[in-house]
Amino acid sequence: MSAKTILITGASSGIGASLARVYAAQGARLVLWGRNEERLNTTAAECRARGAQIETTCFDLAELNQIVENLEAADTRNPFDLVIFNAGLGGSLPRDRAAQDVGAAERMAGVNFTAPVVGANLIAERMAKRGRGRIVFIGSIAESFPLPMAPLYAGTKAGLALFAEALELRLAKYGVRVTLVSPGFVDTPMSRSLREPRPFLIGADEAAAIIARKIERGARRIVVPWQFAVIRAAAGLVPRAIMRAVLARAAR
Ligand SMILES: NC(=O)c1ccc[n+]([C@@H]2O[C@H](COP(=O)([O-])OP(=O)(O)OC[C@H]3O[C@@H](n4cnc5c(N)ncnc54)[C@H](OP(=O)(O)O)[C@@H]3O)[C@@H](O)[C@H]2O)c1
Repeated sequence: MSAKTILITGASSGIGASLARVYAAQGARLVLWGRNEERLNTTAAECRARGAQIETTCFDLAELNQIVENLEAADTRNPFDLVIFNAGLGGSLPRDRAAQDVGAAERMAGVNFTAPVVGANLIAERMAKRGRGRIVFIGSIAESFPLPMAPLYAGTKAGLALFAEALELRLAKYGVRVTLVSPGFVDTPMSRSLREPRPFLIGADEAAAIIARKIERGARRIVVPWQFAVIRAAAGLVPRAIMRAVLARAAR
């Protein structure tokens, strides 16, 4: 069987870098996107050391035209079997701010929602024509909770989750599959910057190994670590008013 061709966005750090190393060890041909050149090169070197063929592209995902150009060019050279939209911006609001400043709001909405949605629409059309392929979104368990400490983050991830599910239904008849991954707390620079506790914290390499294994099995929904699937299910049984009161109190 020929090597799988895989795109991973946000491969210069955290979950994306760990996923790149997992797929490199499986002999995949990897296209790695990131913004910080030095960190992306480090991931690329680690992947090459595992025997994988690597191509890197550094740019800011806020540049939507760059997403289109780079995705079209790479997919034309070597059609992707798997595209993982992982890059994201996190962080909770500072306590002394009522809301995010306009620039930060635009950046987070762009990277967490607009960029993966634009990229996914482009690659979905191409994969549908080929009659195969898988698109993966790294969302967040935050998609299920109206988090007052991070309203925009929760909102972008909720939007992404609904988009992923609708796209999955849309693309099924074309033979293109969609997977939504909803991490809880994974030990990465993003989660380390949070001031809140990180229950059930899992390492990025362990999370990536679980995610890759479940994608290989064809999972449509992945929650990692699993405890957050239980928390979400339990929260669904609690009246919304109680959940809102608990979250509002936690944010004080
Ligand atoms: N860690 C957690 O606990 C957790 C929980 C739930 C969901 N997630 C999700 O998991 C995904 C990966 O997060 P992580 O924890 O691995 O975070 P991370 O270590 O901070 O990595 C984020 C990645 O996204 C890239 N990125 C951010 N803004 C970008 C931009 N404007 N243009 C291009 N690339 C950009 C970063 O690139 P540079 O480093 O090159 O800037 C980096 O590679 C995110 O979607 C996040 O929301 C994480």
